[in-house]
Amino acid sequence: AGDDAKRLEEAKSIKLVNDESLGVATKPNLIYIPISGWVHNLRVQGKDMMFLVLRDGTGHLQCLLKGRVCHTYDALTLTRESTVKVYGMLNEVPEGKKAPGGHELVVDYWELIGRAPSGEENYENQFNEESNPEVLYNLRHLVIRGDRASSILKMRSIIIKAFRSHFESKQVTEITPPLMVQTQVEGGATLFGFKYYGEEAYLTQSSQLYLETTLPSVGDSFCIAESFRAENSHTRRHLSQFSHCEAEYAFIEFDDLLQNIEDMICGVVEAVMNDPIGSQLLKELNPDFKPPSRPFKRMPYTEAIAWLNERNIINEKTGQPFAFERRMTDTINEPIFLCKFPVEIKSFYMKRCADDRRLTESVDVLMPGVGEIVGGSMRISDYQELMDAYKREGIDAAPYYWFTDQRKYGTCEHGGFGLGIERFVAWLLNCYTVRETCWYPRFPGRCQP
Ligand code: 4AD
Repeated sequence: AGDDAKRLEEAKSIKLVNDESLGVATKPNLIYIPISGWVHNLRVQGKDMMFLVLRDGTGHLQCLLKGRVCHTYDALTLTRESTVKVYGMLNEVPEGKKAPGGHELVVDYWELIGRAPSGEENYENQFNEESNPEVLYNLRHLVIRGDRASSILKMRSIIIKAFRSHFESKQVTEITPPLMVQTQVEGGATLFGFKYYGEEAYLTQSSQLYLETTLPSVGDSFCIAESFRAENSHTRRHLSQFSHCEAEYAFIEFDDLLQNIEDMICGVVEAVMNDPIGSQLLKELNPDFKPPSRPFKRMPYTEAIAWLNERNIINEKTGQPFAFERRMTDTINEPIFLCKFPVEIKSFYMKRCADDRRLTESVDVLMPGVGEIVGGSMRISDYQELMDAYKREGIDAAPYYWFTDQRKYGTCEHGGFGLGIERFVAWLLNCYTVRETCWYPRFPGRCQP
């Protein structure tokens, strides 16, 4: 300890100058670079050698500090998550040694930019894999710096990019919808209300109704926007705010809708697997992932109920298919188009089946491990049918005048769907909960950080 204190004291007087470095930059096959980043990992080897792994969001780089550059006060007191700028030669790692990307920066000059705390406040003392989930949610802003969380966030970005490219390739136009609205889409029970300059307003549950109004304007359209649900359910697949990828298509039939959904899911999976970073992250996060085979299994709702009854799987609590559809999907273990739900358990806007007016042209996509990731349907195209639907559901038609106008000014057969990005990511990466696949999860009791 005495030795260390002496070294630390001496180190304060060591001033590094950028003296012997720049000359070698001209050597062939060697690159001299400056890199700024966060100290992701720190390993001291004896008095004269120190390995840093720097993180800058694009990747990790191992840096080797040898001799004078690791004798400074800043080097001796360096902590995880400090920010530094290093200068040096980029080399391949010596034979038999491993480093991210197979490279190593041999540092001949470096500067400390921001010192992260040591001691009790040290990053590494804040949490670990076994910490209580509450601690991890409180420290989410620090947790997202970790390998797993940052890889999932990266993957989310690659997946969202793939959704956008898919729609672009099909000439579907992106819109950005209003999130503060005065109409409900998926039932009054899950609305977040607030005062909007003294008027009653809500955070949107879905942008579907707005997307329907852009069909006659820009044609088939989609959005990737936040939706909100005041769902008082503490499950691993419900959030109070989620990223909702929704699309709407004009002049289609129910079969086209199913085809569009299948094309999108398979297209996005393929794009992610063809992306160099996407494929690498997928291998790390979910090495057993197999792309789903096509066509997806189609199962009418009535058949699903029969399947469940045969196996005595009954949901005593709710009487709804919701809770046990996951068991069915996990048993069948492939994507399922669960189709044609009864009118009474679905939303007001859904079109009825021509051959059985008790059923709707609706679909949920169920995925093993997660359950429902997509909800979609054909929409009511007839004015009077829509007016009847408002009445049946006890909805005041007045605030929906702009939506109702779509059925007056040139109606058409149309349909669409919504896909929860967090559930899709959870499925693709085999994550236990959607709380892990969003940036800052919102659920009952959690609106921080
Ligand atoms: O089935 P939902 O409620 O359908 C709609 O909102 C339609 N208006 C969409 C449309 O047709 N444009 O929600 C669609 C999807 C679900 O399948 C699920 O993936 C996701 O949105 N979702 C949620 N994800 C996380 N937490 C919640 N509370 C969610 N509620 C829905």
